[in-house]
Amino acid sequence: MITITRRIEFCAAHRLHNPDLSDAENKRIYGVCNNKNGHGHNYAIEVTVRGALPRKTGMVMDLKDLNDILQKVIHNPCDHKHLNHDVAMFESVIPTAENMAIKFWEAVDDELQQYHGVHLHLVRVIESRNNFVDYTGPDPGDIV
Ligand code: NI
Repeated sequence: MITITRRIEFCAAHRLHNPDLSDAENKRIYGVCNNKNGHGHNYAIEVTVRGALPRKTGMVMDLKDLNDILQKVIHNPCDHKHLNHDVAMFESVIPTAENMAIKFWEAVDDELQQYHGVHLHLVRVIESRNNFVDYTGPDPGDIV
């Protein structure tokens, strides 16, 4: 198998808060990440695709095309935004790194439908120096 990966970065604020829970429960679950007015991260997102390697081009996919997709569906909507308030895909989704990976997967996967033989393989959301989340696609048992 051969894969190619493109990395992008953006800066955004978020707040981890479940409106269905009490303030005390939110504080217990999310701690400082529940801070009322949010907090910020310098996010890096790595998106990996796999596919056949055409002899004609020697490329799984033009990395410029992949970058254009990531700019369109991730960077432009999210950069310098408050994810909870400004970004449609997180309107009713708590913007944990896990949920971000899933929403970014869905958005990139939609765009990749026009590229035959190219498949999304991994979405990595790097939230800090020490924390990152990997998503490899939907599985019925993933969300409880
Ligand atoms: Ni955070």
